[in-house]
Amino acid sequence: MIPVTSSIILSLLLSLLFTPSASEVSISVSPQTLSKSGDPVTIQWSGVDSPSKLDWLGIYSPPNSSSSDFIGYLFLSTSPTWQSGSGSTTIPLVNLRSNYHFRIFRWTESEINPKRRDHDNNPLPGTKHLLAQSAELGFEPGRGPEQVHLAFTGREDEMRVMFVSQDGKEMLVKYGLRADAMDQSVGTRVGRYEREDMCDAPANQSVGWRDPGYIHDGVITNLKKGKSIWIDDSIEILFIGLTIARQFGLVNSSHENPTC
Ligand SMILES: *[C@@H]1O[C@H](CO)[C@@H](O)[C@H](O)[C@H]1NC(C)=O
Ligand SMILES: *[C@@H]1O[C@H](CO)[C@@H](O)[C@H](O)[C@H]1NC(C)=O
Ligand SMILES: *[C@@H]1O[C@H](CO)[C@@H](O)[C@H](O)[C@H]1NC(C)=O
Repeated sequence: MIPVTSSIILSLLLSLLFTPSASEVSISVSPQTLSKSGDPVTIQWSGVDSPSKLDWLGIYSPPNSSSSDFIGYLFLSTSPTWQSGSGSTTIPLVNLRSNYHFRIFRWTESEINPKRRDHDNNPLPGTKHLLAQSAELGFEPGRGPEQVHLAFTGREDEMRVMFVSQDGKEMLVKYGLRADAMDQSVGTRVGRYEREDMCDAPANQSVGWRDPGYIHDGVITNLKKGKSIWIDDSIEILFIGLTIARQFGLVNSSHENPTC
């Protein structure tokens, strides 16, 4: 039998040897490049010593944001295995035209500051104890268009198609009466706005400013009532074999003017 005192010394020694320090917490993201907005990323961590229910994962974009400027967060305890110090979570990411990066922080009940709350009245997580930070993650360049929207114009026989691209290169809206015969096209007007166009902080400052990309605007004319048409919202990315078509139709109005 080992005497009590030496067993205490032994366990102290062992705990000194095996207590993971902050630098041993690891975090990884997969994949490191996403192909389009809304694609999921899996974040895995391990080596979190004596996990706290409030330890959290901060989402940052751009990656050089200061710790208090996270754009979202998750508690590590939402992962079923959090008590083991390891876990993972999968979340979709919106393409903000800037890379992402994740940080893990230790936060405890005693550090909750009831005066610092977010818009939902939850206390803001503390950023004093950074445990680990991930590599950067980005989106494949040259993909798009994104955020395709259809809208009415002031005319009954028109439809506006708007979308966002990364580089503002000329793009056409292809359309036609069938998904496999989009034989007509219309050009788009391209515009964007800059940080200087924003009228107040934080939107006009580096921390609140987001690159909006280039906004394309095309108008399809001479539409026929009661006919459904297809637009091809893969536009210029057809060459990489991705075709997503959308169908829309103009419904016959019940207040039709018989003289028209
Ligand atoms: C991050 O980098 C951008 C571009 O280099 C710079 O404008 C911005 O001030 C940096 N932000 C911080 C918090 O360092
Ligand atoms: C942002 O807008 C406010 C209000 O107009 C102005 O006082 C401030 O100087 C602007 N900041 C920058 C960085 O342009
Ligand atoms: C709409 O009106 C046109 C012409 O009057 C007609 O041919 C078509 O069947 C109608 N479509 C619907 C969905 O009611």
